[in-house]
Amino acid sequence: MSHSKAAPVLIDRFGRTVDYLRISITDRCDFRCVYCMAEDMTFLPREQILSLEEIYWVAAVFAQLGVKKIRITGGEPLVRKGALGLLQKLGQIEGLTELVMTTNGSQLEVYASALKAAGVKRLNISLDTLDADKFKAITRTGNLKQVIRGIQAAKSAGFQRIKINAVILKDRNHLEVIELVRFAVDLGIDISFIEEMPLGVVLQHNRAEAFYPSAMIKADLRDSFNLEPSLQRTGGPSNYFNVIGTDTQVGFISPHSDNFCSTCNRVRLTAEGRLLLCLGNEHSVDLKQVLRAHPGDAETLKQVIIEAMPLKPERHEFTLHEQPIILRYMNMTGG
Ligand code: GTP
Ligand code: 5AD
Ligand code: SF4
Repeated sequence: MSHSKAAPVLIDRFGRTVDYLRISITDRCDFRCVYCMAEDMTFLPREQILSLEEIYWVAAVFAQLGVKKIRITGGEPLVRKGALGLLQKLGQIEGLTELVMTTNGSQLEVYASALKAAGVKRLNISLDTLDADKFKAITRTGNLKQVIRGIQAAKSAGFQRIKINAVILKDRNHLEVIELVRFAVDLGIDISFIEEMPLGVVLQHNRAEAFYPSAMIKADLRDSFNLEPSLQRTGGPSNYFNVIGTDTQVGFISPHSDNFCSTCNRVRLTAEGRLLLCLGNEHSVDLKQVLRAHPGDAETLKQVIIEAMPLKPERHEFTLHEQPIILRYMNMTGG
């Protein structure tokens, strides 16, 4: 069967077209955020993760299958040696309209302008608090000032959009939502508030007790900002509101309180080369094995990817009250 060039070929059992690939290029990170990792993590040995060449090859094949948007994530993508070179190559793939990245911001002071030059259009930067002590407590190893300098460097580099991601946990940072929006407004950037997802076992807090629903954040913001529903869609799960009188949009990513799976358009490539069909399920196909058994064979890889689509589940199975069913931590897949 031949496919016309423009026709999307990745469609799942529920009629959803997959045109967005998220690639975790490393499971390593210089931070240890409490909702993302255990304190003493063991990372994957080098030979178990895809090489940069393999990642590029998979990305190029996905683009031929109709993928338009690639998001590079980690761990922290910029701690992988050669990350910038990979982004430069990805920026040249024909048919990709959006190359974007999610980062913790720790290296942006160094890399922001080079990333912009490589063709990275938008950056999502994690920032959960503006209080240096709380920042240290949440990230365990991070330095707030360095991240703020990174965000400023990104702003100066002139990215199309920059978005802050803030995971809000009750009694840790829920009192800071107004201040965080003000920070975004002052810089003319966007911000998304994220409900924590139960990925991996975390010991520092009880996820059900730490749950702070998006509706409560919206209510907290109401007295300080005028929010109006926005029509903007990024192809991500954020539900956006314009902050009237500013350039800022506030998004809510609400896996618990407002399921967004029916419009899901994405799959993930883990650092180990597993094609993961849903963040909240374990359905996956081992692309690394295919890549290494058939080097340079685009057709075989395409076939395996097309045949993986029916495995995509209808929705995630996250719950607040049981032990997580997903044992992998967020850093394996980058969210
Ligand atoms: P854009 O909309 O492209 O700007 O990005 P995004 O907000 O989708 O991506 P980002 O990497 O900034 O992720 C923000 C949060 O959304 C993270 O906590 C992700 O885990 C979460 N997220 C992204 N995609 C999905 C998804 O398919 N399912 C679930 N449950 N969460 C997701
Ligand atoms: N639940 C929700 N978001 C998470 N992130 C990391 N772990 C979790 C989790 N368990 C967020 C980070 C980053 C994005 C990629 O995912 O804060 O912004
Ligand atoms: Fe690192 Fe991001 Fe995980 Fe924090 S959330 S430990 S910055 S990968």
